[in-house]
Amino acid sequence: GWMNEINGLNVLEMQLKEKLQLKDAVIVSGDSDKDAWIKKDMGKAVFSLLKKIVRPDDIFAVTGGSTMFAVAEAMKPFAFEGKNVFVPARGGIGEQVENQANTIVATMAKKTNGEYRMLFVPDLLSEASYQSIIQEPAIHEILMQIRSADIVLHGVGDAMRMAERRQASADIISALREKNAVGEAFGYYFDASGNVVHKVQTVGMQLKDLDNDKYVVTVAGGKSKGRAIASYYKQGKSDVLITDEAAAKEILRD
Ligand code: BG6
Repeated sequence: GWMNEINGLNVLEMQLKEKLQLKDAVIVSGDSDKDAWIKKDMGKAVFSLLKKIVRPDDIFAVTGGSTMFAVAEAMKPFAFEGKNVFVPARGGIGEQVENQANTIVATMAKKTNGEYRMLFVPDLLSEASYQSIIQEPAIHEILMQIRSADIVLHGVGDAMRMAERRQASADIISALREKNAVGEAFGYYFDASGNVVHKVQTVGMQLKDLDNDKYVVTVAGGKSKGRAIASYYKQGKSDVLITDEAAAKEILRD
């Protein structure tokens, strides 16, 4: 029955916390690989959690992806007249428009009556262009907001699927394969032990910026992402994982 299902998820949450050494986990039932609406349920779970922790002037740094899109769609105004600012965590890393962090922060701001900034930087930058672009006052200001973000909302992807989605070159794809990349987050690719085996060069948040002042919310589900999620937790900082039952079971099976 219904109560058993709830209790079952609680047990899964405890096991998952133990396995990944997580501070907190929320599991929604189902498999988002199979049913698109499960992402919406994860989105709702993220919003319920945010309602409890967000403060009126918190800055949010947000990544792209279809999961973050669902999180944005699930947002509503918080219970205060705040001026929350939503900024993309990093510059462009090869997503189509609806899955881009720029688009997602605009939706989040609209849904919560907050504000947003967009970050327009080309996906591939030479070192020289990179150095000059980060000096641009408009870019510099956003980079400072990203660095001082209070809450980070991010997705995790399967490494090879993300590389293909970003149309990575054949060289990069074969390097990722050789190094056994399994997971991806913030444009960083990880092997099963959590070593960074490749990184997309772009401005904005770097893994080392995820310090203890930031509350990091990791949102990823689907059976196919089990190994990817586990790889992120080998090294990556996260305060809470919002996932689904299928991903949780896959992680616990290993
Ligand atoms: C991308 C992020 O936009 O979305 C990645 O840059 C993340 O870091 C990915 O892994 C997740 O996408 P999805 O569609 O599986 O939620």
